[in-house]
Amino acid sequence: MDDVEAVVLVGGKGTRLRPLTLAAAKPMLPTAGVPFLAHLLSRIRAAGVRRVVLGTSYLAETFEAGFGDGAALDLELIYVTEEQPLGTGGGIRNVADHLTAETVMVFNGDVLAGTDLTAVVDTHRRTDADVTLHLVRVQNPRAFGCVPTDAEGRVQAFLEKTEDPPTDQINAGCYVFRRKVIDQIPAGRVVSVERDTFPGLLAEGARVWGHVDAAYWRDLGTPGDLVHGSADLVRGIAPSAALPGPVGDRLVLEGAELAPDALVFGGTTVGRGVRIGPGARVEGAMLFDGAVVGAGALVRHSIVGFGAQVHEGAVLVDSVVGDRAVVGAQCELRHGARVWPGVTLPPHGVRFSPDV
Ligand code: GDD
Ligand code: MG
Repeated sequence: MDDVEAVVLVGGKGTRLRPLTLAAAKPMLPTAGVPFLAHLLSRIRAAGVRRVVLGTSYLAETFEAGFGDGAALDLELIYVTEEQPLGTGGGIRNVADHLTAETVMVFNGDVLAGTDLTAVVDTHRRTDADVTLHLVRVQNPRAFGCVPTDAEGRVQAFLEKTEDPPTDQINAGCYVFRRKVIDQIPAGRVVSVERDTFPGLLAEGARVWGHVDAAYWRDLGTPGDLVHGSADLVRGIAPSAALPGPVGDRLVLEGAELAPDALVFGGTTVGRGVRIGPGARVEGAMLFDGAVVGAGALVRHSIVGFGAQVHEGAVLVDSVVGDRAVVGAQCELRHGARVWPGVTLPPHGVRFSPDV
């Protein structure tokens, strides 16, 4: 695969992950102890690809600050920024001048997958395709790009987020492009690869192929998916060479202090300098660096932002607490509640609220 280059699209605003994405781009959010993108980049490198171009826009400078020239990952990383976001197709076209290979893999920057990337490229070459799409089957195809194929695997249609999907087979957000197809995308304007480029290629009769597999796959675009994906990484259910510790029921980073009787499990990540009080129960959660969980608190499938505090006896289920926010003692947040950064909820202040 040293004759293949990769493009990773990381320019989205991550709106479904607010407030976490107010201060950090989605692919830079800590996920099992490292920025999510580190997991994806290490998978790309493990497949034998050396040169990766990142298509950035929102909080563009944070990517280079985090990954530099890529040497730590044994990659050559190139950053190309859209001043105004150009969409997924526009973002791919915008990096064309920086590509040198004839075969280019393109990745959505928020997908956690265990796919054999070499096998996707093999399908592309065997079928002599113009574009090959990695496809997976999911429970809720309405939330994705629905991609029916014929018996040979040739793509028949591309239906982005359609109400009535004809199949549960969807676009997994990983493509192999013949270089010249990228050059044909119109330059300098907003283009959606899903709504414009793929339907256009199909209408022209281009060779668009699907590569279906059943490996681990999850889009980490929502808090629920991020927290479950992170727990899968910690427990080794989702494979990654970038995990900063051994696979296990929890990942505890440097300087964290856990009370001896605190129960911390289910793939929880405990960030640097986090403190967890006596009798607390933390299950399948993400505690970013400097977070505090008080005595007897319950934190389940929730994300606690940088330096945020969950005081004693509070209950947090399927919820997000923004950076430096404070959840007062005995507060109870459930069902997708989100606390904005820096907000302080007084003790007993909330029983349940989706947005506070
Ligand atoms: N450079 C750049 N510019 N990147 C962008 C832009 C842009 O204007 N807009 C979005 N992106 C990046 C995002 O950062 C993300 O990594 C990727 O493109 C996909 O955007 P999402 O916003 O996460 O899209 P989605 O999850 O709703 O749907 C996409 O992914 C699904 C699979 O996870 C589509 O490709 C679907 O067809 C697909 O099923
Ligand atoms: Mg996504």
